[in-house]
Amino acid sequence: MIPWRGIIEEYRKFLPVSDGTPVVSLQEGNTPLIQAKRLAEQICPGIDLYLKIEGANPTGSFKDRGMTLAVSKTLEKKARAVMCASTGNTSAAAAAYGAKAGIPVYVLIPAGNIALGKLTQAIMHGARIIQIEGNFDQALNIVKELCRHDEFELVNSLNPYRLEGQKTAAMEVCDQLGRAPTMHVLPVGNAGNITAYWKGYQEYYAAGQVRSLPQMVGFQAEGAAPLVRGHVIEQPSTVASAIRIGNPASWQLAMNAVNESSGLINMVTDEEILAAYRMVAREEGVFCEPASAASVAGVLNMNAKKLLDEGSTVVCTLTGHGLKDPDTAMNISPQPLTVSATHEAVKAALNIQA
Ligand code: F0G
Repeated sequence: MIPWRGIIEEYRKFLPVSDGTPVVSLQEGNTPLIQAKRLAEQICPGIDLYLKIEGANPTGSFKDRGMTLAVSKTLEKKARAVMCASTGNTSAAAAAYGAKAGIPVYVLIPAGNIALGKLTQAIMHGARIIQIEGNFDQALNIVKELCRHDEFELVNSLNPYRLEGQKTAAMEVCDQLGRAPTMHVLPVGNAGNITAYWKGYQEYYAAGQVRSLPQMVGFQAEGAAPLVRGHVIEQPSTVASAIRIGNPASWQLAMNAVNESSGLINMVTDEEILAAYRMVAREEGVFCEPASAASVAGVLNMNAKKLLDEGSTVVCTLTGHGLKDPDTAMNISPQPLTVSATHEAVKAALNIQA
């Protein structure tokens, strides 16, 4: 068997690369698509539910698919450095792929508001990190302005190569299922990923690889739901820090994806997100980050409103790994018991009879 070569080589004919493009890859992609029977029984009986585990990418999120292409194209055009604003995952991926490429990476993040694991990644990969006393939307505005002067290559999803790379996840889902799902559900923040998936499905359909297209469904967090409310949210707030975004860059493109696919954009509360977050970990053995669980919370929400058809195939993307945000996990969990180091004490704690 030929080993997996990363998304650029595996999906080369669908991507804007040539023989001259220097490929910077960490062998991203080829992530598991897991059938979630136990979860489905609880949240949507009668639905064939799958989880696309994007936390299994090299830096632990779907951002790697876009970053391999964005950084490869940066080298191709001989730009000097890359820059991004981030709620954490984009900066982790930019830092890692920048390190692999040997170019400087500059990241702007909201001070004190990104998950510990993501900050740790950016630091370890040697990115130059600036924390701003503001939110993601403000960081992105500053980065866009700075990148106008060509010295820095912008690697947020406004960079079209990011979405090109990320669309390969939709193609992979089709390859793994042997067809397109009925519905694809994603958490939505800056709205690039739902746009990318729709592009991927459409291109696979046009190429004759699948015979149908899914409905695209996006879920935002209630306190950060500009697409649902139809206006910018100045102070977005949610426990799901990855999608704490009030003015998404790909706003219109995401709405197009939803409308063209007869899909849906809606929101879930933080309580719903955290309940789904815990349920995925306990029922399926998959630890995702809180933002990722917005997709699963969304399925539960849709099922309660009878919006899912019996027998349909629904895929939820779990966008990032749970270990990125240990603080949130520990905050909602009971602390384990500590006892003295004796058989008796452990037996008593486990409630085992002698
Ligand atoms: N899930 C996770 C784990 C994310 O990190 C993000 C976005 C999303 C979902 C939403 O995807 O923005 O394409 O709609 N994170 C960005 C970042 C904003 O900076 O890491 P989207």
